[in-house]
Amino acid sequence: MQGQMTTNPIRKIIIDTDPGQDDAVAILLALASPENVDVLGITTVAGNVPLPLTKKNARIVCELAKRPETKVFSGCDRPMQRPLVTAEHVHGKTGLDGPVMQDPTMALQHQHAVDFIIETLRQEPSGTVTLCPLGPLTNIGTALQQAPDIADRVQEIVLMGGAYFEVGNITPAAEFNIYVDPEAADIVFKSGISVTVMPLDTTHKALTTKPRVDAFRALNTQVGNMVAEWTDFFERFDKEKYGSNGAPLHDPCVIAYLIQPDLFSGRMINVAIETQSELTLGMTVADWWGVTDRPANAMFMGDIDADGFFNLLTERLGRL
Ligand code: RIB
Ligand code: CA
Repeated sequence: MQGQMTTNPIRKIIIDTDPGQDDAVAILLALASPENVDVLGITTVAGNVPLPLTKKNARIVCELAKRPETKVFSGCDRPMQRPLVTAEHVHGKTGLDGPVMQDPTMALQHQHAVDFIIETLRQEPSGTVTLCPLGPLTNIGTALQQAPDIADRVQEIVLMGGAYFEVGNITPAAEFNIYVDPEAADIVFKSGISVTVMPLDTTHKALTTKPRVDAFRALNTQVGNMVAEWTDFFERFDKEKYGSNGAPLHDPCVIAYLIQPDLFSGRMINVAIETQSELTLGMTVADWWGVTDRPANAMFMGDIDADGFFNLLTERLGRL
Protein backbone atom coordinates (compact mmCIF):
# COMPACT_ATOMS: atom_id res chain seq x y z
CA MET A 1 0.00 0.00 0.00
CA GLN A 2 3.02 2.27 -0.40
CA GLY A 3 2.10 5.24 -2.52
CA GLN A 4 2.04 8.99 -2.88
CA MET A 5 0.62 10.49 0.29
CA THR A 6 -2.94 11.60 -0.39
CA THR A 7 -4.31 13.79 2.39
CA ASN A 8 -7.84 14.92 3.08
CA PRO A 9 -8.98 18.52 3.65
CA ILE A 10 -8.87 19.89 7.19
CA ARG A 11 -11.30 18.06 9.48
CA LYS A 12 -12.89 19.65 12.54
CA ILE A 13 -12.60 17.01 15.25
CA ILE A 14 -13.39 16.31 18.89
CA ILE A 15 -10.99 13.79 20.46
CA ASP A 16 -12.69 11.75 23.20
CA THR A 17 -10.00 10.05 25.22
CA ASP A 18 -8.81 8.15 28.31
CA PRO A 19 -5.02 8.85 28.33
CA GLY A 20 -3.25 6.27 28.36
CA GLN A 21 0.13 6.42 26.65
CA ASP A 22 -1.27 5.54 23.22
CA ASP A 23 -4.02 8.16 23.59
CA ALA A 24 -1.26 10.66 24.40
CA VAL A 25 0.57 9.88 21.17
CA ALA A 26 -2.69 10.25 19.24
CA ILE A 27 -3.29 13.69 20.77
CA LEU A 28 0.28 14.73 19.90
CA LEU A 29 -0.20 13.55 16.30
CA ALA A 30 -3.41 15.57 16.00
CA LEU A 31 -1.92 18.74 17.51
CA ALA A 32 1.10 18.40 15.21
CA SER A 33 -1.11 18.26 12.10
CA PRO A 34 -3.04 21.56 11.82
CA GLU A 35 -3.17 21.27 8.02
CA ASN A 36 -5.22 18.09 8.47
CA VAL A 37 -7.20 18.41 11.71
CA ASP A 38 -8.66 21.30 13.68
CA VAL A 39 -9.04 20.06 17.26
CA LEU A 40 -12.19 21.81 18.51
CA GLY A 41 -11.80 20.16 21.90
CA ILE A 42 -10.54 17.16 23.84
CA THR A 43 -13.17 15.44 25.98
CA THR A 44 -11.96 13.07 28.66
CA VAL A 45 -13.62 9.91 29.93
CA ALA A 46 -12.92 7.26 32.58
CA GLY A 47 -11.21 4.25 31.05
CA ASN A 48 -7.57 3.25 31.26
CA VAL A 49 -7.48 5.09 34.58
CA PRO A 50 -10.20 6.98 36.52
CA LEU A 51 -11.46 10.35 35.26
CA PRO A 52 -9.43 12.54 37.68
CA LEU A 53 -6.31 11.13 36.00
CA THR A 54 -7.52 11.12 32.39
CA LYS A 55 -8.58 14.79 32.60
CA LYS A 56 -5.17 15.62 34.12
CA ASN A 57 -3.22 13.53 31.60
CA ALA A 58 -4.92 15.14 28.60
CA ARG A 59 -3.72 18.55 29.80
CA ILE A 60 -0.19 17.24 30.43
CA VAL A 61 -0.08 16.13 26.80
CA CYS A 62 -1.42 19.45 25.47
CA GLU A 63 1.28 21.31 27.41
CA LEU A 64 3.92 18.87 26.14
CA ALA A 65 2.75 19.82 22.62
CA LYS A 66 3.02 23.50 23.64
CA ARG A 67 -0.71 23.92 22.94
CA PRO A 68 -2.07 25.06 26.35
CA GLU A 69 -4.91 26.90 24.58
CA THR A 70 -6.47 23.56 23.65
CA LYS A 71 -9.89 23.13 25.25
CA VAL A 72 -9.96 20.09 27.56
CA PHE A 73 -13.23 18.93 29.13
CA SER A 74 -14.07 16.51 31.90
CA GLY A 75 -16.70 13.91 31.01
CA CYS A 76 -18.29 10.79 32.42
CA ASP A 77 -16.58 9.14 35.37
CA ARG A 78 -18.19 5.73 34.90
CA PRO A 79 -19.94 3.69 32.19
CA MET A 80 -23.62 4.27 31.44
CA GLN A 81 -24.90 1.16 33.22
CA ARG A 82 -21.94 -0.66 34.76
CA PRO A 83 -19.15 -0.18 37.25
CA LEU A 84 -15.89 1.17 35.82
CA VAL A 85 -13.15 -1.24 34.75
CA THR A 86 -9.67 0.28 34.41
CA ALA A 87 -6.33 -0.87 32.94
CA GLU A 88 -3.56 0.20 35.31
CA HIS A 89 -1.94 -3.19 34.64
CA VAL A 90 -1.18 -1.88 31.14
CA HIS A 91 -0.75 1.88 31.59
CA GLY A 92 0.51 2.11 35.19
CA LYS A 93 -1.21 3.81 38.11
CA THR A 94 -0.98 7.30 36.59
CA GLY A 95 -2.05 6.22 33.12
CA LEU A 96 1.11 7.83 31.69
CA ASP A 97 3.74 5.79 33.54
CA GLY A 98 7.22 5.75 32.05
CA PRO A 99 8.76 9.22 32.28
CA VAL A 100 8.42 11.62 35.20
CA MET A 101 5.57 14.02 34.36
CA GLN A 102 4.95 17.51 35.73
CA ASP A 103 1.41 18.38 36.82
CA PRO A 104 -0.42 20.51 34.25
CA THR A 105 -0.95 24.25 34.80
CA MET A 106 -3.51 24.85 32.03
CA ALA A 107 -7.13 25.03 33.18
CA LEU A 108 -9.86 22.52 32.52
CA GLN A 109 -12.97 23.87 30.78
CA HIS A 110 -15.95 24.29 33.13
CA GLN A 111 -18.50 22.83 30.69
CA HIS A 112 -19.17 19.08 30.96
CA ALA A 113 -17.74 17.11 28.03
CA VAL A 114 -21.14 15.72 27.03
CA ASP A 115 -22.65 19.22 26.91
CA PHE A 116 -19.66 20.41 24.83
CA ILE A 117 -20.17 17.57 22.33
CA ILE A 118 -23.90 18.32 22.01
CA GLU A 119 -23.44 22.11 21.79
CA THR A 120 -20.62 21.87 19.24
CA LEU A 121 -22.56 19.53 16.97
CA ARG A 122 -25.61 21.83 17.12
CA GLN A 123 -23.56 24.99 16.48
CA GLU A 124 -21.20 23.80 13.73
CA PRO A 125 -22.66 23.30 10.23
CA SER A 126 -24.22 19.85 9.95
CA GLY A 127 -21.86 17.16 8.71
CA THR A 128 -18.65 19.07 9.41
CA VAL A 129 -17.52 17.64 12.79
CA THR A 130 -15.82 14.24 13.21
CA LEU A 131 -15.85 12.51 16.59
CA CYS A 132 -12.66 10.57 17.44
CA PRO A 133 -13.28 8.30 20.45
CA LEU A 134 -10.09 6.66 21.75
CA GLY A 135 -11.54 5.16 24.94
CA PRO A 136 -14.81 3.77 26.25
CA LEU A 137 -17.75 5.32 24.36
CA THR A 138 -19.52 6.61 27.48
CA ASN A 139 -19.41 10.33 26.57
CA ILE A 140 -20.56 9.67 23.01
CA GLY A 141 -23.33 7.28 23.99
CA THR A 142 -24.54 9.66 26.69
CA ALA A 143 -24.56 12.61 24.26
CA LEU A 144 -26.56 10.61 21.69
CA GLN A 145 -29.02 9.51 24.40
CA GLN A 146 -29.48 13.06 25.75
CA ALA A 147 -29.67 14.71 22.31
CA PRO A 148 -30.75 12.26 19.59
CA ASP A 149 -30.90 15.18 17.13
CA ILE A 150 -27.11 15.36 16.95
CA ALA A 151 -26.78 11.97 15.22
CA ASP A 152 -27.66 13.45 11.83
CA ARG A 153 -25.14 16.26 12.35
CA VAL A 154 -22.01 14.12 12.88
CA GLN A 155 -19.75 13.89 9.81
CA GLU A 156 -18.19 10.59 10.92
CA ILE A 157 -17.16 8.71 14.04
CA VAL A 158 -13.64 7.28 13.73
CA LEU A 159 -12.98 5.17 16.80
CA MET A 160 -10.41 2.79 18.20
CA GLY A 161 -12.16 -0.27 19.57
CA GLY A 162 -13.33 -3.79 18.97
CA ALA A 163 -11.74 -6.82 17.41
CA TYR A 164 -12.64 -9.74 15.18
CA PHE A 165 -9.74 -11.96 14.07
CA GLU A 166 -7.63 -10.68 16.96
CA VAL A 167 -10.40 -11.48 19.49
CA GLY A 168 -10.28 -9.80 22.91
CA ASN A 169 -7.55 -8.15 24.96
CA ILE A 170 -9.41 -7.62 28.26
CA THR A 171 -11.51 -10.82 28.04
CA PRO A 172 -11.19 -13.67 25.54
CA ALA A 173 -14.03 -12.06 23.58
CA ALA A 174 -13.82 -8.29 24.02
CA GLU A 175 -11.51 -5.35 23.39
CA PHE A 176 -11.12 -2.96 26.35
CA ASN A 177 -12.84 0.21 25.05
CA ILE A 178 -15.98 -1.66 24.01
CA TYR A 179 -15.94 -3.96 27.05
CA VAL A 180 -15.88 -1.10 29.57
CA ASP A 181 -19.12 0.40 28.23
CA PRO A 182 -20.93 -1.99 25.87
CA GLU A 183 -24.25 -0.16 26.22
CA ALA A 184 -22.63 3.07 25.00
CA ALA A 185 -21.03 1.20 22.11
CA ASP A 186 -24.40 -0.34 21.24
CA ILE A 187 -25.91 3.17 21.00
CA VAL A 188 -23.07 4.30 18.71
CA PHE A 189 -23.24 1.31 16.35
CA LYS A 190 -27.06 1.58 16.12
CA SER A 191 -27.03 5.38 15.66
CA GLY A 192 -26.95 5.39 11.86
CA ILE A 193 -23.87 7.62 11.99
CA SER A 194 -21.02 6.81 9.55
CA VAL A 195 -18.63 4.80 11.77
CA THR A 196 -15.05 3.84 10.93
CA VAL A 197 -13.50 1.31 13.29
CA MET A 198 -9.80 0.80 14.09
CA PRO A 199 -9.99 -2.63 15.80
CA LEU A 200 -7.20 -4.71 17.29
CA ASP A 201 -7.08 -6.48 13.90
CA THR A 202 -5.42 -3.33 12.57
CA THR A 203 -3.74 -1.83 15.63
CA HIS A 204 -1.93 -5.05 16.48
CA LYS A 205 -0.06 -4.58 13.19
CA ALA A 206 1.22 -1.15 14.31
CA LEU A 207 3.94 -2.41 16.64
CA THR A 208 6.55 -0.19 18.28
CA THR A 209 9.56 -2.21 17.19
CA LYS A 210 13.00 -1.11 18.36
CA PRO A 211 13.93 0.67 15.09
CA ARG A 212 10.68 2.62 15.28
CA VAL A 213 11.24 3.63 18.92
CA ASP A 214 14.85 4.49 18.07
CA ALA A 215 13.46 6.84 15.39
CA PHE A 216 11.39 8.61 18.08
CA ARG A 217 14.55 9.06 20.18
CA ALA A 218 16.54 10.16 17.15
CA LEU A 219 14.27 13.21 16.92
CA ASN A 220 16.29 14.37 19.91
CA THR A 221 13.36 16.40 21.23
CA GLN A 222 11.44 16.39 24.52
CA VAL A 223 8.41 14.97 22.67
CA GLY A 224 10.43 12.27 20.93
CA ASN A 225 12.08 11.17 24.17
CA MET A 226 8.76 11.28 26.06
CA VAL A 227 7.03 9.11 23.45
CA ALA A 228 9.93 6.65 23.54
CA GLU A 229 9.76 6.41 27.34
CA TRP A 230 5.98 5.92 27.27
CA THR A 231 6.48 3.21 24.67
CA ASP A 232 9.17 1.49 26.72
CA PHE A 233 6.74 1.29 29.64
CA PHE A 234 3.59 0.55 27.64
CA GLU A 235 5.09 -2.25 25.53
CA ARG A 236 6.25 -4.48 28.40
CA PHE A 237 2.67 -5.75 28.90
CA ASP A 238 2.01 -6.64 25.25
CA LYS A 239 5.48 -8.12 24.65
CA GLU A 240 5.02 -10.42 27.65
CA LYS A 241 1.43 -11.33 26.75
CA TYR A 242 1.76 -11.77 23.00
CA GLY A 243 5.48 -12.38 22.69
CA SER A 244 5.44 -9.56 20.15
CA ASN A 245 8.44 -7.39 19.32
CA GLY A 246 6.72 -4.20 20.37
CA ALA A 247 3.47 -2.74 21.62
CA PRO A 248 0.49 -1.91 19.40
CA LEU A 249 0.07 1.87 19.07
CA HIS A 250 -3.72 1.64 19.03
CA ASP A 251 -5.13 5.16 19.26
CA PRO A 252 -2.83 7.09 16.87
CA CYS A 253 -4.31 4.92 14.07
CA VAL A 254 -7.51 6.99 14.39
CA ILE A 255 -5.72 10.29 13.75
CA ALA A 256 -3.47 8.82 11.05
CA TYR A 257 -6.63 7.73 9.19
CA LEU A 258 -7.84 11.34 9.11
CA ILE A 259 -4.47 12.49 7.75
CA GLN A 260 -3.68 9.68 5.31
CA PRO A 261 -6.62 7.28 4.89
CA ASP A 262 -4.84 5.19 2.27
CA LEU A 263 -2.62 3.77 5.01
CA PHE A 264 -5.60 1.56 5.96
CA SER A 265 -7.89 -0.95 4.30
CA GLY A 266 -11.07 -2.63 5.50
CA ARG A 267 -14.63 -3.63 4.69
CA MET A 268 -18.07 -2.07 5.11
CA ILE A 269 -19.77 -4.67 7.27
CA ASN A 270 -22.28 -5.11 10.05
CA VAL A 271 -20.91 -4.78 13.57
CA ALA A 272 -23.13 -5.61 16.53
CA ILE A 273 -22.25 -5.31 20.21
CA GLU A 274 -22.86 -8.03 22.78
CA THR A 275 -24.55 -6.42 25.80
CA GLN A 276 -26.33 -9.40 27.39
CA SER A 277 -23.97 -12.36 27.76
CA GLU A 278 -21.50 -12.08 30.65
CA LEU A 279 -19.29 -14.59 28.80
CA THR A 280 -18.92 -12.48 25.64
CA LEU A 281 -19.90 -9.03 26.98
CA GLY A 282 -18.52 -6.23 24.82
CA MET A 283 -17.68 -8.46 21.87
CA THR A 284 -17.85 -6.70 18.49
CA VAL A 285 -19.71 -9.30 16.44
CA ALA A 286 -18.27 -8.32 13.07
CA ASP A 287 -19.90 -9.91 10.04
CA TRP A 288 -16.61 -9.88 8.08
CA TRP A 289 -17.72 -12.72 5.77
CA GLY A 290 -21.22 -11.39 5.15
CA VAL A 291 -23.00 -14.45 6.52
CA THR A 292 -25.98 -12.50 7.83
CA ASP A 293 -28.42 -10.09 6.24
CA ARG A 294 -27.69 -7.49 8.88
CA PRO A 295 -27.06 -4.13 7.16
CA ALA A 296 -23.52 -2.77 6.95
CA ASN A 297 -23.10 -0.06 9.61
CA ALA A 298 -19.33 0.34 9.90
CA MET A 299 -16.08 0.50 7.92
CA PHE A 300 -14.11 -2.12 9.86
CA MET A 301 -10.38 -1.75 9.19
CA GLY A 302 -8.34 -4.92 8.81
CA ASP A 303 -4.93 -3.80 7.57
CA ILE A 304 -2.41 -0.99 7.84
CA ASP A 305 0.76 0.10 6.03
CA ALA A 306 2.71 0.02 9.29
CA ASP A 307 5.91 1.52 7.87
CA GLY A 308 3.92 4.33 6.28
CA PHE A 309 2.10 4.88 9.57
CA PHE A 310 5.30 5.16 11.61
CA ASN A 311 6.96 7.36 8.99
CA LEU A 312 4.00 9.75 9.18
CA LEU A 313 3.87 9.63 12.98
CA THR A 314 7.59 10.24 13.43
CA GLU A 315 7.65 13.09 10.91
CA ARG A 316 4.71 14.81 12.62
CA LEU A 317 6.08 14.29 16.15
CA GLY A 318 9.28 15.90 14.91
CA ARG A 319 7.34 19.12 14.40
CA LEU A 320 6.57 19.54 18.13
O1 RIB B 1 -7.78 -1.86 23.76
C1 RIB B 1 -6.95 -0.75 23.49
C2 RIB B 1 -7.63 0.53 23.85
O2 RIB B 1 -7.93 0.53 25.25
C3 RIB B 1 -6.76 1.77 23.62
O3 RIB B 1 -7.58 2.87 23.32
C4 RIB B 1 -6.12 1.97 24.96
O4 RIB B 1 -5.75 3.34 25.19
C5 RIB B 1 -7.24 1.59 25.88
O5 RIB B 1 -8.11 2.73 26.01
CA1 CA C 1 -7.48 4.88 24.77
